[in-house]
Amino acid sequence: MLVDEGGRKFPVVAKKGMTEVRRLGVIDGDKLCRLSLGDRLDVGGRRFVVLRPSLNDLLSMIERKAQIITAKDSFLIPLHLDIACGSRVVEAGVGSGALTLVLLKAVSPEGRVFSYELRADHADVARRYVEMSGDGACWEPHLGDVCTEDLPKDVDAVVLDMPTPWDALANAVKALRAGGHICCYVPNANQLEQLVNAMRGSGLTEVYSFETIQREMVVHEGGVRPSFENLGHTGYLAFGRKV
Ligand SMILES: C[S@@+](CC[C@H](N)C(=O)[O-])C[C@H]1O[C@@H](n2cnc3c(N)ncnc32)[C@H](O)[C@@H]1O
Repeated sequence: MLVDEGGRKFPVVAKKGMTEVRRLGVIDGDKLCRLSLGDRLDVGGRRFVVLRPSLNDLLSMIERKAQIITAKDSFLIPLHLDIACGSRVVEAGVGSGALTLVLLKAVSPEGRVFSYELRADHADVARRYVEMSGDGACWEPHLGDVCTEDLPKDVDAVVLDMPTPWDALANAVKALRAGGHICCYVPNANQLEQLVNAMRGSGLTEVYSFETIQREMVVHEGGVRPSFENLGHTGYLAFGRKV
């Protein structure tokens, strides 16, 4: 990625020839390819440093075709679903792929993430960021409806982030191994009520839900306070387990 003097970050795949960088314009790829990490690059009178993006950098730069699951929520999902290196996970929908990146990091290098998405334009955005993450070898994307597709069997976990997750529960529960976990993410409280009732009705146990509030602190000498620009409500996470 290129980082400007104001700390703004721009993802770029280093390749020869004129290279388009989103929100920045076209840069000379030959020049970029000759640089090492930490080197300076001048573009149109602006100064940039070349760095390899961390997972958090990629998530902050991701193009939002659809609403993404932000890091304060997504990083809790592998913990509550007991996802680790080697796990097999089904996910839907893919959207811009923000959650996909977190799941891939958790299962890599030996696991598998099977992602289902209805819209090709959303899947294309996700594909670009998965390529940049370097964890693409563990990814199996599918264009299709998670409610009706033939899902892989005996998976360790399922994550549903789609407008009507209750419609996919029957197929998702069928895909889970005994003891496997499921998480659904919904932005609205009325959706959460419908979802949790449906999860209980699907025979899932250990059903619980929460939202996470993260308060950034502004720290100056002699002045420490919560930021005025808090990331407020994003969504509710609901969990369950097949026993
Ligand atoms: C909110 S976005 C997902 C965002 C994603 N989790 C992220 O963190 O970037 C919801 C996505 O679900 C997809 N979707 C809706 N219904 C679906 C279904 N039945 N099967 C697969 N994908 C579906 C939509 O096309 C949309 O891209």
